[in-house]
Amino acid sequence: MSVRILALVGSLRAGSHNRQLAEAAVKLAPEGAEVVLYEGLADVPFYNEDIDVEGGVPAAAAALREAARGADAFLFFSPEYNGTIPAVLKNAIDWLSRPYGAGAFGGKPVAVVGTAFGQYGGVWAQDDTRKAVGIAGGKVIEDIKLSIPGSVTRFAETHPVDDAEVAAQLTEVVARLHGNVGEAAAA
Ligand SMILES: Cc1cc2nc3c(=O)[nH]c(=O)nc-3n(C[C@H](O)[C@H](O)[C@H](O)COP(=O)(O)O)c2cc1C
Repeated sequence: MSVRILALVGSLRAGSHNRQLAEAAVKLAPEGAEVVLYEGLADVPFYNEDIDVEGGVPAAAAALREAARGADAFLFFSPEYNGTIPAVLKNAIDWLSRPYGAGAFGGKPVAVVGTAFGQYGGVWAQDDTRKAVGIAGGKVIEDIKLSIPGSVTRFAETHPVDDAEVAAQLTEVVARLHGNVGEAAAA
């Protein structure tokens, strides 16, 4: 049975380099693993406890939860917005964190990577994502890290899948996350 890794991207723009990284991960997934790029984040309303009640959960939020429950692991792709995590990704984490103690992360392995224009590749945003997902119930694999600087120039002409260094790094990220699913199952 193939391991299902749900990819969540923190940029909604069509030409997002983080989205391109996720597309590369889809293509580079090793035998036995499948990376699925989640497409519905733009439609998820801001988290609000008043609507997170039986019969009131918006369809887009319910669909996100269902996709997360069907995943074996999560791979976040985060750019950096003003020194931290973009709102779209934080909003997804908030929806997936509830019901409290029974959220959709369910202790499953999570890795966070990304690219940003700054010289550190969005490391603050990716660190903040790790922090939030860990609190939300994911098992963050802290030593899987990939922060690629200079997004706008590095990927201006070259899709990440065609960048040999990035493709090799991403292949390792997905393989290691896949390996953590196996370890979690065996434990
Ligand atoms: C609102 C906003 C805030 C940003 N803040 C940062 C920042 O704090 N650090 C950084 O390195 N880049 C910052 N950037 C630049 C992004 O890293 C860059 O545009 C990146 O490629 C966006 O990711 P995407 O290509 O996946 O859309 C910011 C961009 C926007 C739109």
